[in-house]
Amino acid sequence: MNPFKYGMVVSGKDFCGRKALLKQICDHIISSQRLVILGERRVGKTSAVCEAVNRCKNVRLLYVDLLGIKSVDGMCRRILKAIIVQEQKKGWFEKILKTLAHLRPSISVDPITSLPTVSFDSSIELKADSIPEVFNLIESLGKKQILVVVFDEFQDILNLADAHEALALLRGEIQFQGKTSFIFVGSIRHKMEEIFTNHDSPFFKSAITFMVDTLPYKEFSEFLNNKFSQGHRKVDDKVLEKAFQIAENIPGDIQQLCGAIWEITAEKEMISIDKLKNAIELVFAREQKSYESYIRLLTNIQLKVLTAIAKEGGSQVFSAAFMKPSGFTNPSTVRRAVNRLLQLNILFKGGGEYRFVNPFFRAWIMYHG
Ligand SMILES: Nc1ncnc2c1ncn2[C@@H]1O[C@H](COP(=O)(O)OP(=O)(O)O)[C@@H](O)[C@H]1O
Ligand SMILES: [Mg+2]
Repeated sequence: MNPFKYGMVVSGKDFCGRKALLKQICDHIISSQRLVILGERRVGKTSAVCEAVNRCKNVRLLYVDLLGIKSVDGMCRRILKAIIVQEQKKGWFEKILKTLAHLRPSISVDPITSLPTVSFDSSIELKADSIPEVFNLIESLGKKQILVVVFDEFQDILNLADAHEALALLRGEIQFQGKTSFIFVGSIRHKMEEIFTNHDSPFFKSAITFMVDTLPYKEFSEFLNNKFSQGHRKVDDKVLEKAFQIAENIPGDIQQLCGAIWEITAEKEMISIDKLKNAIELVFAREQKSYESYIRLLTNIQLKVLTAIAKEGGSQVFSAAFMKPSGFTNPSTVRRAVNRLLQLNILFKGGGEYRFVNPFFRAWIMYHG
């Protein structure tokens, strides 16, 4: 079986490093603090938070993923579902269903996981005035153990039409729950900053912030080497160095690339740098369709700007040295293209430069452009 895991939360023996961070998160949970966890996509935020909770003794986790929520109704439903997943102990389960009877819950068993799943009558719309009720239920979970509530992809709250009101209500409820620890996890940096540091935001200065950074080369490469040797393969150091570089040090992308290397090699093989090319081609082949659908969304100018950023990097995109080789003279043309690429989530702004959200897409464009 392929030992490299990506696109999922990793824990236990699949979790590498971050000892100090895990301890800090755990200490703060025990003292019922509010934390903000920030970092790039696929760097390991969700895994770090979940692993910290796992390693904390006597702590209960309520994990709510807010990715893509569009309304207060959607947010409340996500929280209620998370509570129900937690409360599969029978007595509780029934009690909670009774409390929520007005939402006409119906229970079914997921045929794949055999876990009960709940759906609520979709004709009933939960409004902001349901938030206190939802938080009463959350509070009831924390009676016996320390409770930690994790809101993942928290920045998506800003998608709500009435985001400000929802944030104010949430903050009120959260302040009221002194014994519960709350962790807000977010990827899109400036949006999280808008929530937590903007002066008119109701969350202003309400939490301690941690950054989840990429894993150090030495520690992570040893971890990866170990996985290769479990399958009786040995990798040349250069292969991993280059893989880190292509994947721009992002742990999730490095694991994806190692997974591809694994697939194209056999037991007892000594893996040298020439194999990396085949592994990247495998990644390309799998992602080709999504790359092409991105390309179809772009105008010629946008594609030219994207190709130039892939080749030259995205730190000086409005300089003559950047624009001239691509035939641009007007910075506002480049600016419009860049804005569209940000909006499409192809690029993001990090560390003062424009970067590809997906480093393999960057490599693909370099290869084909
Ligand atoms: N500590 C870690 N050890 C090993 N792999 C990790 C670690 N953190 C992240 N990863 C890799 O990154 C992927 C994404 O992790 P995840 O926690 O979902 O990131 P995020 O929440 O920041 O998007 C994982 O599937 C795994 O491949
Ligand atoms: Mg995550």
